Amino acid sequence: MLNACTTGEAATSNIAPLKSHIDFPLGICAMTAQMDDPQWKSMVATHFDRITPEWEMKMEYILQPDGSLRFDAPDRIVRQARLNRQTVFGHTLIWYAQDGEHFQKLKGDRAEFEIAYRAYISGVMNHYKGHVDGWDVVNEPIRDDGSDLRDCLWREVLGDAYIDIAYRAAHEADPACPLVLNDYNLEYYPAKRKRFLQLVEGMMTRGTPLHVLGTQTHIAADLPRGAITQTIRELAATGLKIHLSELDISLKEAAKNALDFRNYRDAQRALIEEAAEAYAALPSGQRFGLTIWGLRDKDSWYNRENRGVRPDEPLLFDDKGALKPLGQAFVKALG
Ligand code: XIL
Repeated sequence: MLNACTTGEAATSNIAPLKSHIDFPLGICAMTAQMDDPQWKSMVATHFDRITPEWEMKMEYILQPDGSLRFDAPDRIVRQARLNRQTVFGHTLIWYAQDGEHFQKLKGDRAEFEIAYRAYISGVMNHYKGHVDGWDVVNEPIRDDGSDLRDCLWREVLGDAYIDIAYRAAHEADPACPLVLNDYNLEYYPAKRKRFLQLVEGMMTRGTPLHVLGTQTHIAADLPRGAITQTIRELAATGLKIHLSELDISLKEAAKNALDFRNYRDAQRALIEEAAEAYAALPSGQRFGLTIWGLRDKDSWYNRENRGVRPDEPLLFDDKGALKPLGQAFVKALG
């Protein structure tokens, strides 16, 4: 009798590896909890060049309350990637959303805080030196309305310089490592994109080491056409490499939680084609890679966090592991 995994493998065994269609790295996010699922493991090994740890390389996992660093889970991901001859992309060192007890305790003393801040960055970078092909150094620094940088503990203590300090510390720790600035909703809000690009220009003018711009591309199927292309073009005009870093396209968000997704599937397909075409149209030297935020629909963070009665369908593969029409459209548009 076939179990679910065998059935799923059969569903995908007749398709060419997705990565074989393109000449830039194709990435996927991963958690150690998924590594015991044989279908997930074999599909990830077959179809992708690069792994982004979905949360186990973040501060909330690595940094302990006493300031020590914990690497067991991310090390497992790195070992597995090496077995698959895949690279690992580091995500993420500094994020407004995560700080932790260690830094909260130090916030009254700017000098000590900065020492600990640099030590965290260099400690993690040194541990993964030679094992990752890039790092998101600062993640999501810009407010959605584009008015300013986001408020966070890092900015509160170190001022706006928290960003430059992070990139300089990262570059000192691993001068060969591509350093990325990553943000989301850049296609939704032109003002946010403008402020993001202002930050980038400032960093470039100051000689801050920055090599890649990440645009997450968590979008909903009702995003107007053209926004992704415009965003990729504007970011690429800086001359830096571009990482389309966390692609998924929600039907549920577009349907405003209604149960009927039918009216949004065509739009979803058109958007993934647009993303693939706009990315593939970049000069090859600017294509850092394109990363999908989850393998099968059931692996999506949207379904993990708010599954509800009608799970979302934002990814390329269905729950059984078959390439969906959305995935087929993506492959075709890349080719
Ligand atoms: C999300 C993960 O997918 C979830 O599993 C986790 O609980 C929260 O973070 N932008 C990012 C990613 O940079 O790190 C986020 O990932 C999604 C939004």
